[in-house]
Order: sequence, then C-alpha cells, then structure tokens
Amino acid sequence: MTQHDLLISAAAEALCRGELVAFPTETVYGLGANAADEAAIARLYAAKGRPTNHPVIVHIARFEHLQHWVREIPPAAGVLAAACWPGPLTLVLPRAPQVLDSITGGQDTVAVRCPSHPTAIALLEACAARGVWGLVAPSANRFGRISPTTAAHVTAEFGATLAQVLDGGPCAVGIESTIVDVSGATPRVLRPGMLSADRIASLLATPLAAADAAAPRVSGGLTAHYAPRTPLQLLDAAGCAARADALIRLGHRVAVLASAHVLAGLGKDCETLPAADAPAAYAQTLYANVRTLDALGCVEILVEHPPPGPDWAGIHDRLNRAAAGAGQADAG
Ligand code: TXA
Ligand code: MG
Repeated sequence: MTQHDLLISAAAEALCRGELVAFPTETVYGLGANAADEAAIARLYAAKGRPTNHPVIVHIARFEHLQHWVREIPPAAGVLAAACWPGPLTLVLPRAPQVLDSITGGQDTVAVRCPSHPTAIALLEACAARGVWGLVAPSANRFGRISPTTAAHVTAEFGATLAQVLDGGPCAVGIESTIVDVSGATPRVLRPGMLSADRIASLLATPLAAADAAAPRVSGGLTAHYAPRTPLQLLDAAGCAARADALIRLGHRVAVLASAHVLAGLGKDCETLPAADAPAAYAQTLYANVRTLDALGCVEILVEHPPPGPDWAGIHDRLNRAAAGAGQADAG
C-alpha cells in the first residue's frame, strides 16, 4: 500500500465511525460525513455552524451508486450525468424514502454529485467498499464564509477539530458545482457554476426554466454568502481607479483585484492582484485571491467587474454575494 492508499483507508474508516474528514474535490474542498449517519450529520452541521434546514449534497463514487439515494432517475438526469459526471455538476432528484430528512432539509428531493478529483473518487470508493454509499460534503468553511480551495484553507478554518484533512492540491475549478434541479417538469439551474446554463440547455436540447427567486433551498443562494471580512466593492475599471485613489488620499490601505491595465494605472500604495482574463483561470483563483486580499487588513477590497457572458455567470454570482455579505459577522 502506498502512503496515499493508507491515508484514504484511514479516512474511510474515520468516516464509517461517524467522524468528519475534509477532502478535495475539483470545485472546492468538502467537509465529509457519512450521508446515512444521523449523528455524523449533526456533528457536521455543528462544525460548520450551518442552520439545520439547509440541505447538503450527497457525493457518490459513480453513477451506479445513485440508486441508493433516489427513487427514480428522470431522463434529463441520465443525459446530464452521462455528459458531465464525474464533474462539477449537482443534480436535484426525487429522493428515496430512506434518505435522512437532515440532509434534504425535509424536502422530497435530494442533491447528488459525482466529483472528478481522484482523491475524492478514491475516498468515495473506499467508503462504498465498507457499505457507505455516499458522503455529504458541504464546502469546508464555516457558514457564510469563503469556500476553501486548498488543504491549508481548511486547516486554517477548522484547525485540529477534524479527524483528517486530505490534501489534493489546489482545486482545478475553484467555485462550487452548478446545481440543476431535474425533479420537476422543466430542468432549472439553482446555482450557477463553471458548467454554464447554456451548456446544460444544449445537452438537454431544451430551454431551462427561469431561476425562481422564491426557492429558498440553496444556502449559497442567500444574498450574503462567500463573504470576506473586509468590505468588498464591485466596480467598473474607472470606478476601481477612482475609489482606490480616494481611499489612498485619505490615508487608507486598499486592496484591488483587477485586470493588468487597470492595475498599471493605480498608485504604488495599493495592494494588488491581477485578475485572469479567461473565466476558467479567474474562477480557479477567485477564492484564494479574495482570501489573500482579505488577510491584508485593508479598509476595502475593490474588484473590477469581470466581463459579461454565460461563461462568467458563476463568477458574477459569487462576487455579487461576496459584495453583499462582506464585513458582516461570522453567522452571515
Ligand atoms: O462543488 C460543490 O458542490 C461543493 C463540493 C464540496 O462538492 N459542495 C457544496 O456544498 O457547495 P454546500 O453544502 O456548500 O452547498 C450545497 C448546496 C446548498 O446551496 C444547498 O441548499 C443545495 O446544495 N441543496 C442541497 N440539497 C438540495 C435540494 N434537495 N434541493 C435544492 N438545493 C439543494
Ligand atoms: Mg458552501
């Protein structure tokens, strides 16, 4: 057995005992618990500080394990799973009767995803070999805060309170999975991600239902979410430059995440990080960049609006929520 195999089997054993293990996925790091263990799930909600009516995603090793969680697989789910799993897509499906209310928020649906990170798959397979057919894994951050994209982010947030933190390097996608509800008549995106709504619609060869603002079931759907402690402002290029200049002249320190040409026009006193100009690279570094800027103790973080377009929708969503929730108390 390699060192990696030993870590995976120790993590699977801990999960089977009802303990919590953080693990990498291609989107963000998850805080894992046995999805069929009520006590483990209670421990998970307590560790995250998450309200108990917010449902979580069940992670499975492969498509065949879906049968343990759902009572039917709608045709749209089959199409999307075949095209996008393993990968950054979560499907909301009609739940099987034995699925715990504590993971669905008492709803008649359950959210399931099959991640592509090799460490996640190895862990989920090791759990399945022990009769544990899925792990719930919310992002491994405290409720309302920025999701972790490295093992170090998880350790900084939870310290020694977890049985284990598996290190799979920086996450490749960088923001949470796209959530698609396929439980109703017309599929609907509940949370945008790097798998765009356009791509989902073209795979299904049908228009999607409009996002329903009244649907309360996505915790990332709360306006204040993914928030740094430092107030964050989303501005256009000229707005970033003007605001940075005004704050510096008042003697404040300011942090800026913007494209290279905007940064080139700023005074030397700003703390800056260059924004990638392709959506995949922007998303991959987004949370780490915001964490870095948040740690500098500046009076504000200024972020230049990324370009418009469907490939940027997940990024706009997270930045808007970060701007809405920034600077609020931890419970946000
Ligand atoms: O990429 C991801 O999805 C990451 C990684 C770790 O897999 N996980 C993640 O989990 O983002 P979490 O718990 O932070 O977000 C789960 C989202 C929540 O917004 C929740 O409301 C929604 O999934 N959700 C879970 N079950 C649902 C259901 N039955 N109906 C609608 N939304 C649901
Ligand atoms: Mg989360």
